Amino acid sequence: MPPALHFDKGLANTIAAETSLSFIDGEKGVLEYVGIDIDSLARHSTFEETTFLLWHRRLPTSQELGEFERELHACAPLPPGVIDLLRGFPRSAPPMHALRTLVSALGLYDPESDDPSAEANARKAMRLVARTPGLIAAFDRHRKGKPIVQADPTTSIARDFLRMLNGVDPTPAMAHALDICLVLHADHGLNASTFGARVTIATLSDMYSAMATAVGTLKGPLHGGANEGVMHMLAEIGSVERVDAYVQDKLARKDKVMGFGHRVYKAYDPRATYLKTFAEKIAADTGNEKLYEMSKRIEAIMHDAVAAKGIYPNVDFYSATTYASLGLDLDLFTCLFAMSRMAGWTGHCIEQLDGNRLIRPHAEYTGPHGVPYVPVSDR
Ligand code: CMC
Repeated sequence: MPPALHFDKGLANTIAAETSLSFIDGEKGVLEYVGIDIDSLARHSTFEETTFLLWHRRLPTSQELGEFERELHACAPLPPGVIDLLRGFPRSAPPMHALRTLVSALGLYDPESDDPSAEANARKAMRLVARTPGLIAAFDRHRKGKPIVQADPTTSIARDFLRMLNGVDPTPAMAHALDICLVLHADHGLNASTFGARVTIATLSDMYSAMATAVGTLKGPLHGGANEGVMHMLAEIGSVERVDAYVQDKLARKDKVMGFGHRVYKAYDPRATYLKTFAEKIAADTGNEKLYEMSKRIEAIMHDAVAAKGIYPNVDFYSATTYASLGLDLDLFTCLFAMSRMAGWTGHCIEQLDGNRLIRPHAEYTGPHGVPYVPVSDR
């Protein structure tokens, strides 16, 4: 007899995949990548090393890391056809729409797009992680009418992204701040966009299609779009004095306060713990103390009002202040999330293909039955 089906709205109580990439304990506020806690990685690792860890399930030796970085960075230059394509995009296009389309377009220029072998998929994962920063920076330069800056395959992803975006070398502190955010966002269990990517690859479609699914899923304000939502909120509030009235009004209306709450964490999001301290420092270094002070006040009010329900700041809350302090445009924040999560998404797709089974749940039908067909002439 087939097992009984049960309805689980939002799949909140369903385990839909096995993974050895990251582990979350939402009650205790724990996140580990391959068993290593996120705080240690944020303090000591780099995005490149973290990507190696997620893909190989172990830390590299120093020689392996050097080789991995060289190989990864060498993939960074964009295919000329993709640059030609983005030059035709409307300058007003929201960057996440542009990114979704450009990630998909990368597949047009990869002769291995439909090669399903494990080796080809590993190479595609490298290209996707290495090229996403260039896609975001190139579209931003295009929309601002500035010349596109080519990738430099001899430097780190965080540093090169800021260089391609701004046309000048970032300070080491800026590159380091971005690198930490990339480490913190690289993977997060079976979140909505990762699930989307796994559903797509499980049909034996290709990595580029799976990544286009993932970017489109991340874009939503209940997922990766929340960091932009946080910045909009801070801009709308405008000053520390206005925080109390704003937040109380939101709570009274039962509106969600962006950057708070999480489907899995019912304790402080471990990604936010270190980021909070870091955001304070970078805000002070860059003269953005006001943003940080507003955030701290929002957190205090939310703590009194909803901490008992397990609602705490999530990763987006303090990453918004960090990105704003780095001078990044608000509508690029979710793209930065995608740039980092590309490491996790591609790792999950490769994992899904190892012992793959089509992901195909059921739906509870709620419509009528036995309805007679009425010819159009009689309606
Ligand atoms: N502000 C105020 N109240 C909240 C919030 C919030 N941000 N989040 C949850 N609640 C309340 C909610 O009103 C509900 O209260 P009650 O039981 O009295 O009706 C209770 O907490 C449970 O909320 P829920 O919406 O049923 O929880 P969920 O698991 O379906 O949703 C969430 C999780 C992340 C979608 C939601 O917390 C939210 O919309 N937060 C704001 C958006 C946000 O910051 N998203 C980023 C998530 S972290 C980045 C990522 O991984 O994508």
